[in-house]
Amino acid sequence: MERPIGVFDSGVGGLTVVKQLSKILPNEQLIYFGDTARIPYGTKSKRLIQQFALEDALFLLQFNIKFLVVACNTASSSALEILIQRLTIPVEGVVEPGAQTAVQKTRNGRIGIIGTSATIKSSSYSKSILKLMPEAEVFGQPCPLLVPLVEEGWLDDEVTKMTLKKYLAPLMEQKVDTIILGCTHYPLLEKAIQQIVGPQVTLIDSGKETARVVKERLAALKLVNAGPKPNEDLYFVSDSARQFSQVGSRFLEKQLENVQRIDFDEFLIKHSDAPLLKNLEVLHEE
Ligand code: DGL
Repeated sequence: MERPIGVFDSGVGGLTVVKQLSKILPNEQLIYFGDTARIPYGTKSKRLIQQFALEDALFLLQFNIKFLVVACNTASSSALEILIQRLTIPVEGVVEPGAQTAVQKTRNGRIGIIGTSATIKSSSYSKSILKLMPEAEVFGQPCPLLVPLVEEGWLDDEVTKMTLKKYLAPLMEQKVDTIILGCTHYPLLEKAIQQIVGPQVTLIDSGKETARVVKERLAALKLVNAGPKPNEDLYFVSDSARQFSQVGSRFLEKQLENVQRIDFDEFLIKHSDAPLLKNLEVLHEE
């Protein structure tokens, strides 16, 4: 089936997931929405993250997408359930695929999660892990300073290394043998993190695991595009296209083309009566 796959994130970070999807599903057209005007999601309340996720999904639905990938860990942690409830197409987030692999890889059952404050607060990864491995011990560590450091390109900088050491120390004290990189930006820090925690700790890239699961689900649902890629990937953002292209090229490790800024406020006003956005009062604070 030639219809595209929709992917959304709070900004540029979801391109780490796009990179993995493109590698494993080269014939699928991807349509990406990065909500760069409203990033970060990681510091926002559950209610707001859910509302934003529904709005982002609504934008992508215009393109007749056959499958939705929630690349953002924060949105996957707080809004996956409501997206699955309200959308008629299949949806995959990044939390469960990462949790599944962590459970397979751990030898001592002690698993660390690093992510935004909202992701850690939601306990989404712990819940998924404990469902699969009730005896596991899960330790969450919010790392709010890492997103800006990565976007700044300070991957190998002393400031980043010091920050990582401070964030990772409590996990190492707990003797975790597996750490989930529970944020779109962290795959860019994989080398630096591995150097700090040592080779005996397995790092799990949630985006990579998600791409694998999306491939399996497309096959199971008979949604695979058997022919060549029908069209180039498209990228939409709610703030500057230039800024997104510059930072995004580093995330994707290739030049970014086809980036368009959209007036998201105008889009939302125009679609304020969309059924997907009805009854938002059922979303509640947590
Ligand atoms: N994309 C977000 C995530 O994976 C990180 C950036 C943000 O806080 O919005 O959690």
